[in-house]
Amino acid sequence: MADLAGKRIVVGVCGGIAAYKAVEVIRHLVDAGAHVIPVMTKGAEHFIGRTTLSALASEPVQMSLWDEASPIPHTKLGQSADLVLVAPATARLLGAYAHGLSNDLMTNVLIATRAPVIVCPAMHTEMWEHQAVQHNIALLASRGVHIVEPEDGRLAGGDSGKGRLASTTAILARVHQVLGSGDLQGAHVVVSAGGTREPIDAVRVIANRSSGKQGYAVAAEAASRGARVSLISTVDLPIPAGVSVIAVETAAEMQKAIEGLWQQTDVMVMCAAVADFRPVSCTSEKIKKEGGIPQIILEPTPDILAGLGAVKRSDQVLVGFAAETSDLVANAQSKLERKNLDLMVANDVSQPGVGFQHDTNAVTFLTPNQPLHLLPLSDKRNVARALLDIVVKIRQSKATS
Ligand code: C5P
Repeated sequence: MADLAGKRIVVGVCGGIAAYKAVEVIRHLVDAGAHVIPVMTKGAEHFIGRTTLSALASEPVQMSLWDEASPIPHTKLGQSADLVLVAPATARLLGAYAHGLSNDLMTNVLIATRAPVIVCPAMHTEMWEHQAVQHNIALLASRGVHIVEPEDGRLAGGDSGKGRLASTTAILARVHQVLGSGDLQGAHVVVSAGGTREPIDAVRVIANRSSGKQGYAVAAEAASRGARVSLISTVDLPIPAGVSVIAVETAAEMQKAIEGLWQQTDVMVMCAAVADFRPVSCTSEKIKKEGGIPQIILEPTPDILAGLGAVKRSDQVLVGFAAETSDLVANAQSKLERKNLDLMVANDVSQPGVGFQHDTNAVTFLTPNQPLHLLPLSDKRNVARALLDIVVKIRQSKATS
């Protein structure tokens, strides 16, 4: 994805243990085609070497107002930037920026620029929660500075709590969002994830082994490519940045949520393992074992995907998943046609490491009238990336036909 081509991004790195993560952020920005100009504070040098940033970014790192060839690097950098990103941003930097104190190159660039600014704070929980820091954050946000909030997790020195730098994915998603880039920019992508649970009585359900991880990976990847993402989920996993979640439990609830969004859906990725059968009735009391073995009568659930396929507009992209244990391609091909899909993602869940509950997947992509595309075992984010690459191509061909 070279969708940041031509964008000049100043990346500021402050002195915190998370400075090493800036390396990964810079690498991804450069891979996406951006021209990255690194700026470091003096404190950052305690955590990361100049050479590392200079080698990975598009220009040598700059640290001072006075050492560089240009006499006014602060205005030059600020004026020419399409975006200034500070990751990690320390309490000192936030305070100086909020109060207009320009005492080093980075604060000068921030105050001189008219480009959008994203700050990604990282610090110990006590510092993050301090009123002064929170006040500065609120002040910056009120001026239109984009804040990528820190996460809960392990901090330096064995502590843990809120204050850890946001994930690279979350930071990159915000960059794409702010710059209006990404090959799914402007698209509304709806993803279903997890296995449905169909109640038998007050405490028992018919469930399946789906973990929801593949759906969450698709949602995260779509958001990082600029899409507006709605995730219809039966599971409680960490919510990816930029994704809004609708929690559901049964096939009927999932159908209602999806159909409610359908008119404004550009891409529907039906990852969820929807129950095919549900009990005809559910007792409000727990069924007692003293009453003997119960007879549970089942009825079919609505096939949500087939229903959408029947009413699909020509501009909408519909993606299904087929979890099979035999005759993978033949079964998936027949579902692709029967449900009127644009893409079917088939996986043989009898194979080791594939599908349900694993962090990895191996899939075969089937599209109408196109050769099969096989993706060997890889992590679910990688599967999500390949899936959305195909979706983008389908959207392009629909737009031109
Ligand atoms: O026919 P089968 O259940 O194998 O098809 C799988 C695909 O159909 C998945 O994308 C799944 O989310 C979807 N599905 C559905 N409603 C059902 C059953 C499956 O949307 N009741």
